[in-house]
Amino acid sequence: MILKNKIAVIYGAGGAVGGAVARAFAREGARLFLTGRHKPPVEAVAGEIIDSAGFAQVSEVDALDEQAVDKHLQFVVDKESRIDISFNAVGIPGTKILGVPLVDLDVKQLSLPITTYTTSYFLIARTAARRMVANGSGVIITATTQHSRMGLPLSGGYGPAMAAEEALTRVLSAELAPHGIRVVGLRPQAIPETGTLKEAFEARAKVSGMTWEQFQDFLASKTHTGRLMTLEEVANVAVFMASDLASGMTGTIVNLTMGSLDD
Ligand SMILES: NC(=O)c1ccc[n+]([C@@H]2O[C@H](COP(=O)([O-])OP(=O)(O)OC[C@H]3O[C@@H](n4cnc5c(N)ncnc54)[C@H](OP(=O)(O)O)[C@@H]3O)[C@@H](O)[C@H]2O)c1
Repeated sequence: MILKNKIAVIYGAGGAVGGAVARAFAREGARLFLTGRHKPPVEAVAGEIIDSAGFAQVSEVDALDEQAVDKHLQFVVDKESRIDISFNAVGIPGTKILGVPLVDLDVKQLSLPITTYTTSYFLIARTAARRMVANGSGVIITATTQHSRMGLPLSGGYGPAMAAEEALTRVLSAELAPHGIRVVGLRPQAIPETGTLKEAFEARAKVSGMTWEQFQDFLASKTHTGRLMTLEEVANVAVFMASDLASGMTGTIVNLTMGSLDD
């Protein structure tokens, strides 16, 4: 158990990536404080963990609400005396941000992902960092996508948002590593089990003319393995990055695109 008794907070824990990471962290012995904007999906994840003899506590926290994020983390620190891992898995529905050509995109729609992703990540990271500095250790992790580095059509402000998160990861690391805090990102390509990918497909379906199966085959054909990554594989890398085994990694984004995006 490489995360035994680590205190981990996950934001967006009711989502696909957040839920998978929560299960994997629990399997490795972490004590989990799971949060989300709406409780029911987070409670479902926590229920599975508790049924497997893990520890998980659920709270409703809007990651865009500075006071709510701070109040919750103080509650965690009061209870456990520290926070070791902060994982940002917040994501907003693709239906709100994808599928519109830039020439037809209005400013609000462009700004929505940029503002939402950077603000939530910044608040989560800053709140965690303030407690971690006092303890001289900790790891802050976020999830991005290859849109950060590639020009992909019909993705509006999503790419700029992901690029901003990656840039913020590097800056946070530069400032926090001297205090013993690592800051890293995970950059998966496309995970077929998730609603997020289905939405990305639906947003482009009319233009691409592809079926759901053809879309997955197209994405898989870009990887060296000829297949897409599973949620479990992403979560396993998250476990490693959160563990002390990754003590040499900070200020970097782990490329999980299996060759579809060269470093
Ligand atoms: N799925 C993929 O294929 C994939 C690939 C690469 C990278 N990623 C990245 O991984 C991250 C998570 O993706 P996902 O597929 O897990 O998305 P998801 O299943 O839609 O989960 C996102 C979660 O974020 C929560 N959330 C949204 N706004 C929030 C807020 N203000 N405060 C707290 N929670 C909030 C949502 O809760 P509500 O539903 O209650 O709003 C939802 O549970 C995203 O950054 C995405 O870009 C995903």
